[in-house]
Amino acid sequence: MALLSIITAPDPRLKIKARPVPAVDAKVRRLMDDMLETMYQAIGIGLAAPQVGQSSRVIVLDVAREGEKPQPMKLANPEILWRSSELATFSEGCLSLPEHYADVTRPGEVRLRYLDQENEVREMHAKGLLATCLQHEIEHLDGILFVDHLSLVKRGMILRKLAKAKRSRALTAA
Ligand code: NI
Repeated sequence: MALLSIITAPDPRLKIKARPVPAVDAKVRRLMDDMLETMYQAIGIGLAAPQVGQSSRVIVLDVAREGEKPQPMKLANPEILWRSSELATFSEGCLSLPEHYADVTRPGEVRLRYLDQENEVREMHAKGLLATCLQHEIEHLDGILFVDHLSLVKRGMILRKLAKAKRSRALTAA
């Protein structure tokens, strides 16, 4: 397994629609494992392939709490089949928007279809934090970030701060 580098916003690679994987083969399984390792290392609960520069519809997540048994999940070509009309609000963060958090309101439950690591078609019903995290990661596959749910003013503020942090990192590295 290998650690991958995580792209931070603003970056055009985070804004493009990722391509479906034709099948979950050894290469995709390897990507899933590398993404999981990268996510755990970064202390995240979810990661989507575009965040590591891969235009593939692949996401990984683990919403187990500290002290609980890890629950790694690996999904390819996830597709939301149903969303509840009840909504839920969570404070969201993102490994591509480090140190920024904001409340986002989304459907509280979802049903989805995906390919698992053995290339089997599966369906899942999710609620609570898992439902939120799945929707957040699936949106990454369509070039949508959690800040796109915020007001223009709030989003602009966060993205400007991130761009500034990026410039100062580039200067230090130069
Ligand atoms: Ni994210």
